[in-house]
Amino acid sequence: MERKLKIGIIGTGNIAGHHVKYYKGFDDVEVTAGADIVPGKARQFFERMGLPNAHSYENVEEMLRNEQLDGVSVCTYHRAHAPCSIAALEAGVHVLCEKPMSFTLQEAVDMVKASRKSGKFLTIGYQPRYDYLRQRVDEIISSGQLGKIYYIESGGGRRRGIPSKDRDSYINSEKAGYGVIGDNGCYSVDECLHAVKYPRPLTVSAAASSHFGKRKQHCHYPDIFDVEDFATALVRLEGDITFVVKTAWAMHSDTMGNTMWLGTEGGIKIISGFSHANLPSSVMYFTDVNGQHTDSFILPNVNQLAHEKIGPADIWTAKMRNFCDAVRKGGPAPIPGEEVLYNQAILDGMYRSAKLNREVEIVIPDL
Ligand SMILES: NC(=O)c1ccc[n+]([C@@H]2O[C@H](COP(=O)([O-])OP(=O)(O)OC[C@H]3O[C@@H](n4cnc5c(N)ncnc54)[C@H](O)[C@@H]3O)[C@@H](O)[C@H]2O)c1
Repeated sequence: MERKLKIGIIGTGNIAGHHVKYYKGFDDVEVTAGADIVPGKARQFFERMGLPNAHSYENVEEMLRNEQLDGVSVCTYHRAHAPCSIAALEAGVHVLCEKPMSFTLQEAVDMVKASRKSGKFLTIGYQPRYDYLRQRVDEIISSGQLGKIYYIESGGGRRRGIPSKDRDSYINSEKAGYGVIGDNGCYSVDECLHAVKYPRPLTVSAAASSHFGKRKQHCHYPDIFDVEDFATALVRLEGDITFVVKTAWAMHSDTMGNTMWLGTEGGIKIISGFSHANLPSSVMYFTDVNGQHTDSFILPNVNQLAHEKIGPADIWTAKMRNFCDAVRKGGPAPIPGEEVLYNQAILDGMYRSAKLNREVEIVIPDL
């Protein structure tokens, strides 16, 4: 067998445990080191994860200097994604950075530049991209079957879901930058725009609020909550496409609505809060056949599923395995930072527009 890949973990909090669980399941991979700025946290993490021989650090640069790593998982809170990813890339290490890519657009640009300069790849951890039905939706949309797509809308949202139970990393701007825009909004934007190959965003007009995070019954640390828990935006995309984004950590509703793509020849709707008891699938396709309105459900193809190496529910295995395979081959990135740059441009635009209370232009700096 080829030598095992040596992987490091940056930020040994909650999601790092998930990364390590999958790395441990791969015969050709070993997690050899980890760093966390909280003293003793990396050491305790490795003991808990059954990896007492992994080297632990309290400083990322020191870890990168001392260890011969092939790749790292960047699992810090949002505002540390850019500095930690850039440090790893500059040290000559491939990077799997958790979502969202960064807080600001400029940080994302700097990450991509660091990747290009070092020749090491940067991939972003959007595991829903490996979801079986989502991949089928992407295929239908990119086949051109819907005609010209002119309107896209994101759905979803949580009724009660401010992530604050045992940590403040998502609800305090010093660590997170933004709130639900970065945490859930990034997924919504990726789901909607990856399917249409990420057209260039031009302008954003957003509004945001924080009515729930300041209340004890909805948030564990209301006193330090200073980010948004609801946001909505109208984004103009190149090619005359209107994109409406809605996202909420808490609300008095079950959902903010369905996700949909409207085209001149057909439309697709992903039903939010889908229940298997009532419908054959969560994905509906609308078109006209012979002048008749025709509605259908897009179903998982059972025969195809049986032949897939990675099952539809196993999106995490796909995410972690694809990263390791790319590290072994030296690239390309499974979900390249370059592509997610447009995602980040929209999140950055939403944040700025909501703060300024007006529409903002999106200018993507040259790389
Ligand atoms: N893909 C997914 O499904 C998924 C799920 C949950 C979280 N996430 C993302 O993972 C990231 C981490 O989330 P979490 O829930 O694990 O947060 P967490 O607060 O539990 O862990 C973050 C850790 O990073 C450490 N850290 C911060 N700055 C650091 C630095 N400069 N160097 C080293 N360590 C540093 C913190 O001390 C903390 O231990 C977030 O960006 C989040 O959006 C992704």
